Amino acid sequence: MLIAQITDLHIGAPGEILFGGYEPAGAVAAVVARLNALDPRPDLVLLTGDVTGNRTAEACAQARDLLAPLELPMAAIPGNHDERRLFRETMLDLGARVGDGEFLQLDFTAGPLRILGLDTVNGVLPPGGSLCDRRLDWIAARLDEDTDRPTLIAMHHPPFATGIGGMDRIGCANGDALAALVRRRSNIRRVVCGHVHRAVTADWAGTTATICPAVAWEIRLDLHEDAPPVLQPQAPGFQLHRVAPDGRLLTHTIFMT
Ligand SMILES: [Fe+2]
Repeated sequence: MLIAQITDLHIGAPGEILFGGYEPAGAVAAVVARLNALDPRPDLVLLTGDVTGNRTAEACAQARDLLAPLELPMAAIPGNHDERRLFRETMLDLGARVGDGEFLQLDFTAGPLRILGLDTVNGVLPPGGSLCDRRLDWIAARLDEDTDRPTLIAMHHPPFATGIGGMDRIGCANGDALAALVRRRSNIRRVVCGHVHRAVTADWAGTTATICPAVAWEIRLDLHEDAPPVLQPQAPGFQLHRVAPDGRLLTHTIFMT
């Protein structure tokens, strides 16, 4: 089974040019065309948040137009630049799997994997994320239901530090609480994230955690605690996770050079 992960599209209003000259229409169209043309085709596109850059209805309409040509099944969780109600409506219009309720979390099966999608969004517009007690309880209950089946956790904000100070200050603030749940399990095959706009791999809580590069710009690699988050141009990127029958993942990172 193949899962394509895309993240941090940061789509604005039609014609809007964002930071660093980023032009979402061209970048998203290029990634969508590449995903449609992949052979073998991905069985699922997993979108890990920040579909829009500014949480507006205009940006969501543009996201609908840009993602409509995608011919593959999609599942989506929100990021800090998404507004839950608009995000959910947009994903439903696109035929994507999306959560319902106060938090847009997901629990579904794809091939050998159980996929849990977490909603780490924390209020209106603070860029950092967290998991409140209600969300942590939900995750703990889901994990208790099945301690054998290979499981993938998807979340926008990484629960671990990347070493890039400016992004670590706005990661998942209580990632350690999730780590305490994950560390007790042997069936969590991977935690996949977005938000940092760089490809990162970490040993974390007894499993492997990865961050997918963004469709939009990248964050400058600056491994200092006081590093500001500096945006710079980057070829649109995505990842392909190849899932073995026993649920092990192998990941390719692709840039649209
Ligand atoms: Fe983000």
